[in-house]
Amino acid sequence: MNDTPLKVGIIGAGRMGITHHAIINSHPAVEVVAVADPSSVMNSMLEKYVKVRTYKDHGAMLERETLDAVLVCTPPALNHDILRSVHARHLHAFVEKPFALQSAHGAELAALFDAAGLVNQVGYVNRFNDAFARAKQLVDAGLLGDVLRFRSEMYSRTIIREQDETGWRASHAQGGGAIFEMASHSIDLINYLFGRPDRVAGTWLSNVFSKNVEDIVSSTMLYKDGRAGQLYVNWSDESYRKPTNKLEVFGKRGRLLVDQHGIKVHLTEPSPAHGFKAGWNQLNITDVFQPVPFYVRGMEFTSQLYHFVDCIRQRDTVAQRCSFADGTDTLRVIEQIFADFEANQKGVR
Ligand SMILES: NC(=O)c1ccc[n+]([C@@H]2O[C@H](COP(=O)([O-])OP(=O)(O)OC[C@H]3O[C@@H](n4cnc5c(N)ncnc54)[C@H](O)[C@@H]3O)[C@@H](O)[C@H]2O)c1
Repeated sequence: MNDTPLKVGIIGAGRMGITHHAIINSHPAVEVVAVADPSSVMNSMLEKYVKVRTYKDHGAMLERETLDAVLVCTPPALNHDILRSVHARHLHAFVEKPFALQSAHGAELAALFDAAGLVNQVGYVNRFNDAFARAKQLVDAGLLGDVLRFRSEMYSRTIIREQDETGWRASHAQGGGAIFEMASHSIDLINYLFGRPDRVAGTWLSNVFSKNVEDIVSSTMLYKDGRAGQLYVNWSDESYRKPTNKLEVFGKRGRLLVDQHGIKVHLTEPSPAHGFKAGWNQLNITDVFQPVPFYVRGMEFTSQLYHFVDCIRQRDTVAQRCSFADGTDTLRVIEQIFADFEANQKGVR
């Protein structure tokens, strides 16, 4: 392993760019050397207090800085062009979800980065949450027997009043709306645990406060082998203080409920191999978590970026989790959801 610190640049210093900056800078083998964001205010604060070089234009940063990797945290509609420039400079890339807005762009980027041997990771952070990761292990190990049904849900109070419709979150063309912004997390969990569905049906989208994008998403995921699952996402639910993902899995031998805080399992028969009795069992996140050396927002945010660093530094030994190919699979399901809703709207007119 090379001991020279990785030189990292950050593109987009908004909410997630700043979060990721703090986290990756805590890694002893990383140095954040430059940030690109059009905001002069943000750039002058970063130069003064964080002592990092700043650029208004990511192209200038990529041209002038000697970097190993970048974190791309811009509004999603910009990511395709930005990631092409990052690839042209032969840099490893971590990009926030939903990564791109079209699966064709996602597939193109996945092929480019893979062919160049560049680490490529999308920020579907639930894959790095220890409760969801353990739930996947348990389901894969057959704890529930054959899986028949699941439900993947996400709730937040992101949009709880009328919107002025000016920011990027208020338009699909910019990557806004509950599907790109929130349901993408729940779809990624579906793909992660059960594989990409063969068909999407029964989609309905509703507005609560937004005018041009959906605030509520519901849809049904169907598999050729007979499995089926529901997706239900609402980012206008003020009863939730923080964004919350939930997953329920029903199999022939039991039922599993998981969120970011823990797992509940109900089994028909005991499973000594997993330490579970018949009936209800509970695992709290404190029973399953892997400690991280730095905490902002949640341990999974640190785990995902430290994984990105490990993938770069230990290429031969670390298997990459949540690649551009995985992000592309989520975009494929998103396209199916939009197409299904359009067909259903015609059906009820
Ligand atoms: N994983 C998560 O839990 C999570 C949570 C929130 C947001 N996100 C994702 O992170 C991404 C960014 O979201 P955010 O909440 O940080 O948005 P934001 O609006 O707070 O930040 C976006 C930043 O990009 C900057 N920007 C705009 N154009 C740019 C350009 N050409 N070059 C460089 N910077 C540019 C803006 O000035 C702004 O600072 C989105 O894809 C969003 O879906 C992920």
